[in-house]
Parts: sequence; structure tokens; C-alpha cells
Amino acid sequence: MEKLLVRGKKRLVGEVNISGAKNAAVAVLPAAVMCSGVSVLENLPDIEDVACICTTIEKLGGTCTYRDSHTLEIDCSKGIAYSATFEEVERIRASYYFLGALLARYKKAEVAMPGGCNFGKRPIDLHLKGFRALGATVIEEDGVVKAYADKLVGTSIYMDQVSVGATINVMLAATMAEGTTTIENAAKEPHVVDTANYLNMMGANIKGAGTDVIRIKGVSELHQAQYAIIPDQIEAGTYMIAAAITGGDVVVNNIIPKHMDSLTAKLEEMNVGIEERDESIRVTATHPLRGIDVKTMSYPGFPTDLQPQMAALLSICVGKSVLTENVWENRYQYMDELRKMGAKVDVNGRVATIEGVPHFVGAEVSATDLRAGAAMILAALAAEGETIIDGLRYIDRGYENVEHKFNAMGADIVRI
Ligand code: EPZ
Repeated sequence: MEKLLVRGKKRLVGEVNISGAKNAAVAVLPAAVMCSGVSVLENLPDIEDVACICTTIEKLGGTCTYRDSHTLEIDCSKGIAYSATFEEVERIRASYYFLGALLARYKKAEVAMPGGCNFGKRPIDLHLKGFRALGATVIEEDGVVKAYADKLVGTSIYMDQVSVGATINVMLAATMAEGTTTIENAAKEPHVVDTANYLNMMGANIKGAGTDVIRIKGVSELHQAQYAIIPDQIEAGTYMIAAAITGGDVVVNNIIPKHMDSLTAKLEEMNVGIEERDESIRVTATHPLRGIDVKTMSYPGFPTDLQPQMAALLSICVGKSVLTENVWENRYQYMDELRKMGAKVDVNGRVATIEGVPHFVGAEVSATDLRAGAAMILAALAAEGETIIDGLRYIDRGYENVEHKFNAMGADIVRI
């Protein structure tokens, strides 16, 4: 099994180019199967989750052809199957978007229950509630979600909880429903907006994505479109925190700085230097940095997907920091791994209290999930000595060329 060997205490200096957003790509790709023509998607990240969704599309009967390493042509014009119950579907969480997409196009969909990172209960009740409100009959049988409708009819849907997945999934289904659907208490994440923009380019009529009320006037068909995925907010944030944790000087390129506001505010509070440009941010840091409090929230709040990386940084800041995880019930499993490297953390439910230590020490640790894996790399970069990280399959799911991007800025990371 592959592992990463990281030799620590290397200051990162240089530039890094951010790839297309994983969580946008894994929603936009299933949306492409709704179109009866050929779609072209640009700026797709070269990561395992994207490969997995492409395999799903091909197994359904579509074709995926790369024009170059980041531009993909998707052809579902001859029609595809509505039943996705094979292994790839179970591997990743975002497979649930095939439910909304296939239900929109065929008014029937069968999709195996999705897997993905494990941080407590990950229900999809709000997705199913939304499909039912649109007129579908939904049942769960032998690990497969089955949804059928004679027709989908627009309606008003209030999300009991802000959910990225449920907002996007219901938006997909409502795009080809009869009449108007209103989603209230919608998620506002950049990937919700990106999916709506792509659907609109295919001829959908969606207004309000990025606010908490989305209005969708159903259309009967979607036409082909060419679309570029937005930059990855979480990958960008990971490299920004990497600059801070190594006392480095890094320009993070190809980003939308506005998406980084909640992180830049927190880094500035810690005394990290931030210089915002049109499509990049320069991050400079001189240790010691100050411990602070961070609460995760849905966008535009501080993203839960940067919580583990931030915990690594706070572990070597001066003083006490308090992290509050408001999105997932159990996203601190990685703390045991950070402790192996010398972090002093006390976890009580959703609150983690971190006492800063002067430095990490290298150890053998595991990536317990995707962002936890990113946190291990960051801690290892700042650590004295060598760190070996296993569980690479998680990291490869969401970070393109991870060791190459870090090594180009002076890190010493080898895949062994
Ligand atoms: C998306 O997951 C992301 N995944 C996650 O990123 C991210 O952590 C999460 O949003 C929050 O930002 C993708 O976009 C593929 P939610 P999602 O529905 O859509 C509860 C990463 O590391 N909920 O917004 O599954 C749920 O339990 C991944 O890149 C219900 O109760 O998250 C959670 O507490 C990991 N019922 C909260 O809502 C539902 O039907 C937010 O979940 C759905 C969700």
C-alpha cells in the first residue's frame, strides 16, 4: 500500500496553481447526463473522485473522452440506463447526484446508497423528502434508493437544515419538473452556484443560487454546453494554511479570493500576512502565530472541510484555541493522529480545545479521511523529523498531484 514519507521543517516558498473544485466537479458531472447532447467540461481536477464518477457515467452507457488532462467530453445523447447500482457508486458520496439527475431526465432512478468519508451519521433524508415533494415515489430497498414519478411538479420546499447535497440534488430534479420550484433555506456554497450556472448554460432556468432562496422554472430539455469548473476553495485553503504552518511565503494562484474570505479573516487574526490579488492570494507567515477560536458553518462561514487543516495549524500556535464543529457530528477522529505528533488536544463533543505546543514531531500516522489526510501532510511539513502517512487513497480522492505541488515549493515528500 502506498504511503507518503514527509521530511519536515521545510519552509514553503513559491507558487501553487489550484485545480478545479472537487465538490463542484462531482455535482456538475452527474448533471451532464441530463443533457441530450454532448457536454464539454473544462478545468476538471485530475482526482480519484472524478475518475469514479466518469466510470459511473460510462457504465450507465454514456461516453467520457478526455480532450486534454482537464477537459472532458461527455456524450449521453443516445440515452443511458437509469439504474446505477455498481461498486463505483457505493465508493463515493456524491453518487447521490445521479438520483436527482436521472430522475429529472427519465423520471426514474435507482442508485446504490452512497459511501464516502466517515464522520458520523450522513443521512440523505432531505434529498428524498425533496424528491417526494416534487411528486416522486421514493423507496429504499436492499441498499438501493429507487425513485419513480409519472411526472415531477414544481413546489415550495423548505430545507429543515442547510445541506449542500440536498440543495443540489433537489435543484437537479426540479430543473426538468413542470412549473416552478422554490428551495428555501438553501445552501449557498460556491459549488451550488457552479452547478446552477452549468445547468443554466444548458438551458435551465434557475435564479437565486448563492442566496438562501433558489427559484427553478422547469424546462423540458437541456441542450449541450461547454463549461469551466470553478477553482477549489478547499484545496486553495489547504495550501494557504500550509504556507502559514511552515512560516512560508506562498502565492496561491487560480482562485476566487472572495471564496476564501472566512479563512483569510481567521489567518489575519493569527497574524498571518495576506495579500489579495485578482485571482490569487499571497500568504506570508513568521512564527510564532497566535491561537484563536474557530467555528465551522455553512458558506459563507468557515468551512468544515478546512477544520482539520486549521486544527493542525492551531496546534503549533501560541496559547489556547477552541474549535467548534457545527456541521458534522464526529469530525475529530483524526485528533488521535495529531496527538501522535505531539499536539495537545482535548475533545468534548463538537468542541476541541487545543493548547499550542512549540512544534510537531514526526510519527507514523494515518489519513482517517480526505481532509484529515491533508491535515497530516500539513503537520508533517512543520514537524521535526520524518512522518509516514498512510491512507493515501483518501488524499488522492480530492487532491491533484499533491506531493508534486508541495515539492515544487520546497517540501520533501516522497510516495513510497
Ligand atoms: C458536502 O457534503 C461536501 N461533499 C462535504 O465535503 C462537506 O463537508 C459538506 O458538504 C458540508 O460543507 C460534497 O460536496 C460531495 P451536507 P454533503 O448535506 O452534501 C445534515 C469533503 O471533504 N444532513 O451539506 O453530504 C448532515 O448530516 C467533503 O470534500 C441531514 O441531516 O453535506 C450534516 O450534518 C466531506 N440530512 C449537514 O446536514 C440530509 O439529507 C450538512 O450536510 C443531508 C444532510
